[in-house]
Amino acid sequence: MKDIVINVENVSKTFKTVKAVDGLSFTVEKASCFALLGPNGAGKTTMMKMIYGRALRDRGQSKIQVFGYDPAESELDIKYLSGVVPQENNLDDELNVIENLLVYARFYDIGAAEARVRIAGLLEFLELAEKVKSRIRELSGGMKRRLIIARALLNNPKLLILDEPTTGLDPQVRHLIWDKLRQLKKSGITILLTTHYMEEAFEISDSIIIMHKGRMVLEGPPRKLLQEHMERYVLEVLSGEEGERLKKLADEKNIRVDGSHEVTLFYSHNFESLESLAHGLGVWQYHLRQSNLEDLFLRTTGRALSGVE
Ligand SMILES: Nc1ncnc2c1ncn2[C@@H]1O[C@H](COP(=O)(O)OP(=O)(O)OP(=O)(O)O)[C@@H](O)[C@H]1O
Ligand SMILES: [Mg+2]
Repeated sequence: MKDIVINVENVSKTFKTVKAVDGLSFTVEKASCFALLGPNGAGKTTMMKMIYGRALRDRGQSKIQVFGYDPAESELDIKYLSGVVPQENNLDDELNVIENLLVYARFYDIGAAEARVRIAGLLEFLELAEKVKSRIRELSGGMKRRLIIARALLNNPKLLILDEPTTGLDPQVRHLIWDKLRQLKKSGITILLTTHYMEEAFEISDSIIIMHKGRMVLEGPPRKLLQEHMERYVLEVLSGEEGERLKKLADEKNIRVDGSHEVTLFYSHNFESLESLAHGLGVWQYHLRQSNLEDLFLRTTGRALSGVE
């Protein structure tokens, strides 16, 4: 049997009139990476907070188990087994880099000598060794994010929870963080993550959930979801007169069209049929490519909501 680290069954969370999470169920396997995806306000952060005990789920027929513990009752047990990177940076601006980490080590009862060894290793791992004495305000956004990841790893967690670890970071830092997360996964750490970067979810997740308004829309391995729910290829055409002509042609050929935006999108499993649709367009007028997770995301969470379940 597979080793399950997180088990969520029929969990909801209501804030006054808002149902932030609405009947979610999923499981996360040991040493896998699981991503929660969804537009702003979908309920990702709320779901995560219920997993590490920072928010209580609605009462009722529901279950959350993290390493077998219910976070509503055993927040501390889960805290000792997990590291959390919250959505907002919450470093202490009054302290420098190493002081921020030492304070945290004390929360976890890690002895000073041991803490210094771990901190040196983690700053090295996240390529921050040169910044050990820097003030927090002297760090760039990417450095702060990496420091918070280092902090989350200080207690040698078995579960790493990251709420938008790479939002606003440049591509180099994002790729560096992906590499580090892959290494951590290989070492046996389970990762739960939210992100707005579909490429990130695709690159590092074994399984994803796409949420919308607190509910699950799709769940599964990203490649499998793409295969099952999207045509393989997309032709993007800058709208205009050409767009209208092509839409008619596509209709005749049974090619799915999304014409709700400035760029008209044509979807098909057949590359040649899209190629022939693009025939005669100038190279700068179209882009023919493989479909990706972002296409699926927009389709399921509302680029063109009509016709989508
Ligand atoms: N403490 C709170 N009190 C009241 N409403 C809240 C609270 N926290 C979240 N909400 C509401 O719950 C819904 C889900 O919010 P949540 O922060 O979980 O979304 P999210 O998917 O993390 O969004 P984002 O991508 O913007 O971070 C939103 O409608 C939000 O306004
Ligand atoms: Mg959030």
